Amino acid sequence: MTDALNATPQLKSEILMQALPHMLRYDDTIVVVKYGGHAMGDEQKARDFAKDMVLLEQSGINPVVVHGGGPQIGSMLKKLGIESHFSGGLRVTDKPTIEIVEMVLAGSINKSIVGQINAEGGRAVGLCGKDGNMVTARKVTRSHNAGPDEDVVDLGFVGEPEKVDMTVLEQILGRELIPVLAPVAQGADGQTYNVNADTFAGAIAGALGAKRLLFLTDVPGVLDKNKNLIKELRIDDIRGLIADGVITGGMIPKVETCIYALEKGVEGVVILDGKIPHAVLIELLTDHGAGTLITR
Ligand SMILES: Nc1ncnc2c1ncn2[C@@H]1O[C@H](COP(=O)(O)OP(=O)(O)OP(=O)(O)O)[C@@H](O)[C@H]1O
Ligand SMILES: [Mg+2]
Repeated sequence: MTDALNATPQLKSEILMQALPHMLRYDDTIVVVKYGGHAMGDEQKARDFAKDMVLLEQSGINPVVVHGGGPQIGSMLKKLGIESHFSGGLRVTDKPTIEIVEMVLAGSINKSIVGQINAEGGRAVGLCGKDGNMVTARKVTRSHNAGPDEDVVDLGFVGEPEKVDMTVLEQILGRELIPVLAPVAQGADGQTYNVNADTFAGAIAGALGAKRLLFLTDVPGVLDKNKNLIKELRIDDIRGLIADGVITGGMIPKVETCIYALEKGVEGVVILDGKIPHAVLIELLTDHGAGTLITR
């Protein structure tokens, strides 16, 4: 930081000019940024993230933020003494749990991100999938050991996007407003569903025809079996990595969403470490790629 402040005016202007080709490339396009609950670090990191969103918006790029909140939901449930169970990496969401999920995701986390973006000079609008029927969910059914003795697990109020209606987002985009979306949606049955934030972000990116979908997480990107960063991946490589057990846990919905979004026409998906200061700017506005770039 101090190095940048001490740079000569000439050097500073050269650095700014280096962003120009990138700004032109993304001008007027939509970039969906999934801000993982695990990537939300301390206050300084949150400020850096908010500044990045405002800078993108001021550069003529339309950022759409979709946030997670697993750790924050976990700590609120603990505070309230509500027990959590997991099945295959997904939280079993019963009635008391879905109430807390909605309260934390569409309430405190969503409003805190909106507030941070506003504090940096932006104008953020916080919504969830219910607003304007943006995302309608259907209940997820998961089974373990698919086969003759298939064991169907009821995950409760865990949903997946069934229908996406972009009416509300179309009113917001291109008007210097930054949408911040919580992955909570309503089912055709009127129920509230908890949707995995990665899946939600993919549905939004696909429906909006986003140029880029960025996943900010807590690892440098997709790691190989020796824990080295894989810089570029194609859809076909992903299937092999899942089959070989290299990609597991929370990385599975992420890469599955990558495949979905790419097939829907999103040009490229990047999985990157959201704890690196200004990770989004480095990825979009400099010559340096960050994380793993996944293309068709
Ligand atoms: N091959 C892999 N490369 C990198 N990470 C992997 C791999 N396989 C599994 N993972 C795990 O996936 C995790 C990232 O997903 P996770 O769901 O925990 O975070 P998130 O999606 O960023 O946050 P949230 O779910 O709260 O929104 C990593 O921390 C890592 O433990
Ligand atoms: Mg996750």
